[in-house]
Amino acid sequence: AQSARESMFILNEYARDYFVKILFEHPEGRSIGLSYFRERGFRDDIIHKFQLGYSLEQRDALSQEAQKAGYQKDFLLKTGLSTGGENGGALFDRFRGRVIFPVHTLSGKVVAFGGRILKKVPNTGKYVNSPESEIYSKSNELYGIYFAKSAIMKADKCFLVEGYTDVISMHQAGLENVVASSGTALTHGQIRKIRRFSENITVLYDGDTAGIKAAMRGIDLLLEEGMNVKVVLLPEGEDPDSFAKKQNADDFNRYIASHETDFIRFKTQLLLAEAGDDPIKRAGLITNIVESIALIPDAITRSVYIQDCSQLMELRENVLIAEVNKVRLRNY
Ligand code: CTP
Ligand code: MN
Ligand code: MN
Ligand code: MN
Ligand code: MN
Repeated sequence: AQSARESMFILNEYARDYFVKILFEHPEGRSIGLSYFRERGFRDDIIHKFQLGYSLEQRDALSQEAQKAGYQKDFLLKTGLSTGGENGGALFDRFRGRVIFPVHTLSGKVVAFGGRILKKVPNTGKYVNSPESEIYSKSNELYGIYFAKSAIMKADKCFLVEGYTDVISMHQAGLENVVASSGTALTHGQIRKIRRFSENITVLYDGDTAGIKAAMRGIDLLLEEGMNVKVVLLPEGEDPDSFAKKQNADDFNRYIASHETDFIRFKTQLLLAEAGDDPIKRAGLITNIVESIALIPDAITRSVYIQDCSQLMELRENVLIAEVNKVRLRNY
């Protein structure tokens, strides 16, 4: 007999195919969903590759269609594709009037969906996502990993971005070694998935306060996992998708290549700019950087970063070594 998990994967595949078909063949899908993607500059080959779709505005279109095709209510609820159904009542679609981004596992199975609203509606989230389920733990998946893994191996490097559309636009610009944390804090489980393919990671978060904060937190987790971490800071207000669309692929690629900075330089410059001449803030900044360096498991790598840091901050290396050792004695 089929396990519940297998049935959920099969249903998700059915739903994925359904959303794709609606996007390309249904008048509402074509005029609303497909034109939305095209207006955003996504090429049709890329739309197909990522299996993007559209969910109709009708409140139970998929629930009805799936049940007609023989799928059971139970699994529609378990996967989160449908809601409702209490006391034998009707099912409603979770995704309505949204463009759909299927989320794939490492091996290409569909575990979840993200649905983006097209127009701004007050008090509604821009994205609706599948709920956690027997097959989906948000904090363990990385959007795009299935399409990126061979490119990550080949380049021996992975780009980490925040969102669905960032992954897609980077692919379109020819940078296929890219995954997204999907707007949540990076986890150890996600980092280990990347590390199966490469230890080199470049963080490319949105050029806003939230993006910089998230990058800072992500960096420490990555260092702790022994990854080599670089950062690209995007112009204020841009994310990889919006920035890629402002220029041709070559210029975008050149920007990334020339703005890649080692994490220590990124952190130091950013914190120095914040601290200004205030000696107390500068001391706090040193503590902050020392704590990041202390997370690095490998002693040789740590000492390389201590050297860099001593140059950047104009501090004696011995002082930094002593501070890093203090933190390590305290924490490890
Ligand atoms: N996200 C989410 N739910 C939200 C907002 C964001 O799940 N309400 C996740 C999505 O995976 C999204 C990512 O966080 O892709 C980054 O969020 P944001 O930068 O706000 O969206 P973009 O990806 O830039 O989407 P778009 O360009 O379509 O506005
Ligand atoms: Mn953002
Ligand atoms: Mn930890
Ligand atoms: Mn964004
Ligand atoms: Mn965006």
